[in-house]
Amino acid sequence: MLVLAMELRHDMRGLKTRAATPLGLEAALEGHARAFSDRFGSGAPPRLFFSPGRVNLMGAHLDYNGGQVIPMAIDRGTFLALRPRSDGRVLLASTWSPEAFEWHGDALPGTALGQWVDYPLGVLLGFAQRTERLAGLELLFGGNLPIGAGLSSSASLTVGTAYALDLTYATGLTALDRVRLALEAERNFVGVQCGIMDPFAVGLAREGHLLMLDCKDETYEHLPLDPEQTVVGVADTGVRRELAQTEFNRRVGECRAAFDALRVHCPGATCLRDIPPEVLRRHEADLPADIVKRARHVLDEVARTGSARRALLAGDTQTFGAMMTAAHESLRDLYEVSVPELDHLVEIASGCPSVLGARLTGAGFGGCVVFLVRAGGERELADCIASAYPQRFGLLPDVAFFRGDRGPREIARR
Ligand code: GLA
Repeated sequence: MLVLAMELRHDMRGLKTRAATPLGLEAALEGHARAFSDRFGSGAPPRLFFSPGRVNLMGAHLDYNGGQVIPMAIDRGTFLALRPRSDGRVLLASTWSPEAFEWHGDALPGTALGQWVDYPLGVLLGFAQRTERLAGLELLFGGNLPIGAGLSSSASLTVGTAYALDLTYATGLTALDRVRLALEAERNFVGVQCGIMDPFAVGLAREGHLLMLDCKDETYEHLPLDPEQTVVGVADTGVRRELAQTEFNRRVGECRAAFDALRVHCPGATCLRDIPPEVLRRHEADLPADIVKRARHVLDEVARTGSARRALLAGDTQTFGAMMTAAHESLRDLYEVSVPELDHLVEIASGCPSVLGARLTGAGFGGCVVFLVRAGGERELADCIASAYPQRFGLLPDVAFFRGDRGPREIARR
């Protein structure tokens, strides 16, 4: 996601204060089919696919520390239009840039090009290797997810590509196979050492549910979120930090350093999540201050995420929301990945009676705040933001509300 964010610079303010997909997916995908004909010419109509983005509600920066995370797929994401070709050529293009890429299916580049196309290309290579079924095709990407906003545009794209290939070539992959193809593409081909949360959140989504994923053993469960009671809102600050990728990698390195220093006191620990908080307390004087702060965030967030899960299962959304806001404070003060725009949105939300909790989502360094809101309080939240945010930052972030999406799917043509 972060690399992609740096590659692509276009309008990020895609989120509006209204239903998530005002046109409806079918109509939006019809528009995408027209863009496909403009790009690749008329002929047989392409098959159309949708793949969601995600917000993370709990478990901030825990996936690469083996912790538990609670994301939710959203009904905004990547559009794919795919048409097979009989000459073995592979053509990839997108609606967000004028370039198109073309190779023979037997001669796909084996190393990344440093462009957005690396994401689907990595999936194509993995798919070809695994199934030996890849043939010629034309594939156009587009969508309605702001890129680089922390809503996982990259996993939306890679999982969506695996899904579209699987259906087109009838290879019968499981949802988990497609998640693995996406993950391997991003890690091994694009070269981003991302955690496992994003492709799992997209590929294993269930409508009206959050996903509780244990990133240590990859077990998961779906937690219901009743839309009659609570809705999830997202506001995009529009802020994108140049250093986001470097800082993200630095945090991954700091957590690794904390684990390496503390594991000697905890035989059997395989990741930072396994370190008992009292071991950190006992040894913190031996560690650099920054490393202590990062580790403390991780271990506190592990405990908060467990509490949030229990609260949700007991129908206590108030406690779940309180855990989200506490997570934000820790991301601001201990993990140091927030920016003033995100902090201000969370502060505004704290004074808004309908909001149960708020925190930055994704890696941080800009991007979006996610809110847990009492159903019916959507307008109140939008008004709270409109009356306080522009005074300080001079613009009004749009707010969108989502229900848990059901994951990648083919969209039937009318
Ligand atoms: C980014 C990464 C995720 C996760 C989050 C932080 O979004 O892509 O894997 O690490 O940051 O929770």
